[in-house]
Amino acid sequence: MNLIGSKTIETERLILRSSKMKEQKRLWEILMIPNVNKWYLTSSKKYACNQEHWTWKNQEKFYKLKVEQSDNNDVFVWSVFLKPKYTNSGKEEVIGQVSAQEKGNNIFVRDVGWYMDPNYQGKGYATEAAKAMIKYMFEKVKIEKISSGAVKDNIASCKIFEKLGFDKICEIEEDSPYTFYDGRLIFSKYELTQEKYFNNN
Ligand SMILES: CC(C)(COP(=O)(O)OP(=O)(O)OC[C@H]1O[C@@H](n2cnc3c(N)ncnc32)[C@H](O)[C@@H]1OP(=O)(O)O)[C@@H](O)C(=O)NCCC(=O)NCCS
Repeated sequence: MNLIGSKTIETERLILRSSKMKEQKRLWEILMIPNVNKWYLTSSKKYACNQEHWTWKNQEKFYKLKVEQSDNNDVFVWSVFLKPKYTNSGKEEVIGQVSAQEKGNNIFVRDVGWYMDPNYQGKGYATEAAKAMIKYMFEKVKIEKISSGAVKDNIASCKIFEKLGFDKICEIEEDSPYTFYDGRLIFSKYELTQEKYFNNN
């Protein structure tokens, strides 16, 4: 495995870059939208009802810590920027984040995640970013497997796994791990092995 960190990746409409402080406030704003964080955010549930905890004034320090480590060679997290000609403002905009975090203790097996600004959802941007990240993880970093999943009712996220060639392994009911969502949830678990990735690409 090549621990090369989150190098810049360019696609037709997007640029994926390692996290920098200048876009973090916008990413925090996006994550504070209930439809974005509902099935994504897994910070400690003890803060769920503490509004003060979620203000930028309080969150900024956590984002600073994240950015301090963002260029480490074992960090695989990208801010997703939309090229100017596709944005509403005509300027480059950060529209989300994709990641390929360590899963358990095996650094060769990764868990992938993504979220996008609702203003730019449904345009194929998450699929485009995820596809580029997965290519980077298999071809450059040389991971062995992606083992991940989404809430079964999270149609958009499940579609991304399926469109990118993942195998659906099982469905499993679990307590919600999500900060702002309580109760039981059915998860669809997906896997993509190195062998299957290279057979398909
Ligand atoms: C999941 C998420 C990142 C998808 O972002 P996106 O940029 O809209 O995704 P895409 O445009 O690439 O769409 C992926 C597929 O889902 C479909 N889709 C998008 N939004 C949808 C919705 N609200 N309902 C049903 N399908 C939807 C798209 O049509 C596309 O399928 P298709 O190619 O068959 O048409 C975005 O919905 C999001 O940020 N959700 C909240 C955070 C989250 O759930 N993260 C994942 C946790 S596992």
